[in-house]
Amino acid sequence: MVIYRKFSTGLKLYEKIVPTNLKGKKVSSQQWLTRQLNDPYVEKAKMMNYRCRSAFKLIEIDDKNSFLKPGQTVIDCGAAPGSWTQVAVLRCNADGKQKKKIGTVIGIDKLQIYPLEGAQLLGNMDFTLKESQLKILQLLNNAKLDVVLSDMAPNATGVRSMDQENILNLCYSVLKFAVQMSNDGGTLLVKVWDGGGVPKLCKDIEKFYNHVKIIKPNASRSDSAEKFLLGRGFKGLKTTL
Ligand SMILES: C[S@@+](CC[C@H](N)C(=O)[O-])C[C@H]1O[C@@H](n2cnc3c(N)ncnc32)[C@H](O)[C@@H]1O
Repeated sequence: MVIYRKFSTGLKLYEKIVPTNLKGKKVSSQQWLTRQLNDPYVEKAKMMNYRCRSAFKLIEIDDKNSFLKPGQTVIDCGAAPGSWTQVAVLRCNADGKQKKKIGTVIGIDKLQIYPLEGAQLLGNMDFTLKESQLKILQLLNNAKLDVVLSDMAPNATGVRSMDQENILNLCYSVLKFAVQMSNDGGTLLVKVWDGGGVPKLCKDIEKFYNHVKIIKPNASRSDSAEKFLLGRGFKGLKTTL
């Protein structure tokens, strides 16, 4: 059960939803529940049938930068529960529901991912492992990638420096894969947590992509350290004989 409490910010009257069945729950769980109930993106995700609110981060980033197009080949790393994959399927027409070029969307996650029409999903697989990447190559069947997405996040240890190092390792693993597997002109979008290694990661992405932008979408919670790095215009790998 929830109750609504009216409060005013001076400009607008808001109704804050306060859950009442919190007895015995930890403070962190109480805070999480209150935040979920008051988050407009959670409500919107339910209404639009997205598997989670993260969908709106990708929607917002793509609305402003237009890199997902019908007919493209996309990999979504850290795909569970699947909302980014849903957005990619729709925008690349991977389910063939629009009379446009049909794309390919592959999603991979360490966790199970429930089936999603139009997407090829690799659940219970660690993206950083060689065998997982070989599995992706098999699905690609010699095609190259137009867009590489990563919303991967390691389990937080609570030790900031360690968490930062872990997410950067994931980003570098995605960058390495993207460099080997992308079409010229391709796009890379990776999630990072703000911190020490981010400027170096930006510089490293710039070695391979024409433009790099740091993005904090409105849908990303303001108290979260997450940011997204968008690399546009993959320069291609120069092979010398
Ligand atoms: C924030 S969630 C992704 C949400 C997703 N973009 C969506 O919209 O539904 C981060 C995901 O990264 C996954 N992850 C973390 N490390 C991973 C790894 N090494 N390989 C594959 N997935 C990983 C986690 O299991 C988790 O599901």
